[in-house]
Amino acid sequence: YAIADAAQKAGAEVTLISGPVNIIPPKGCQLVSVTNAQEMHHESLKRATDATVFIACAAVADYRVADIAEQKIKKSAETMQIKLVKNPDIVADVAALKDKPFTVGFAAETQDVEQYALSKLKRKNLDMIAANNVAAEGQGFNSDNNSLLVCGEKSKTEIPLATKSQVAEALVNLIYQEQENNR
Ligand code: C5P
Repeated sequence: YAIADAAQKAGAEVTLISGPVNIIPPKGCQLVSVTNAQEMHHESLKRATDATVFIACAAVADYRVADIAEQKIKKSAETMQIKLVKNPDIVADVAALKDKPFTVGFAAETQDVEQYALSKLKRKNLDMIAANNVAAEGQGFNSDNNSLLVCGEKSKTEIPLATKSQVAEALVNLIYQEQENNR
C-alpha cells in the first residue's frame, strides 16, 4: 500500500491488486480486490501487458488446498492430512510474457539475502528485485519500518532503515531510474 501510494504521488497511474487487508487504499489508485492466489494471477496477467511497471510485493501463498470441503469437516481421526497443490507463480508468469512490463519482485530472506535475491532475479527473469531481511529486529513483518537491498542486473542499492512510506518513495525512484536506463 505504501508503494502504491508513493507511485501515485510520483505521478503514476496505479492499479493496486490486493488480497483482503484492513488498511485503507491510497486515494487515486484503482483497487482490484481478490481473495486468493489464482484470482490475483488472473487479474495481474489480464493487466500486465498494458502496464509499464509491474511490482510484485504480495506475499502469495505457495500452495493452496487441493479440495475445498463443501461442508464443515467433522473431527474423527487423531491425525489428518490436507493435500496441497502449488499456486501459479504470478511474477514469474508476468515476466515470461512476450510484451512484459518492467518487472520488480520481492524477496523476504532470513540469511544470505543478496545471494538468494540475485538467484531469484535470474530464475524468475525479473528486471529488479527488492530484498528484505525478515530475520532482522524491528523491520519487515509487524513493523512500520523496513530497509531494502535493491538489485538490478548490474545495479545494487541499499535503502537504509526508515518508515515504510520513506522506503517506498526511495524504491519508486530507483525503479524509475533503472527503467529509464534499460530503455
Ligand atoms: O519464490 P518466492 O515466493 O520467494 O518469491 C517472492 C516473489 O515472488 C515476490 O515478488 C512475490 O510477490 C512473488 N510470488 C508470486 N506468486 C507466487 C509466489 C510468490 O508472484 N505464487
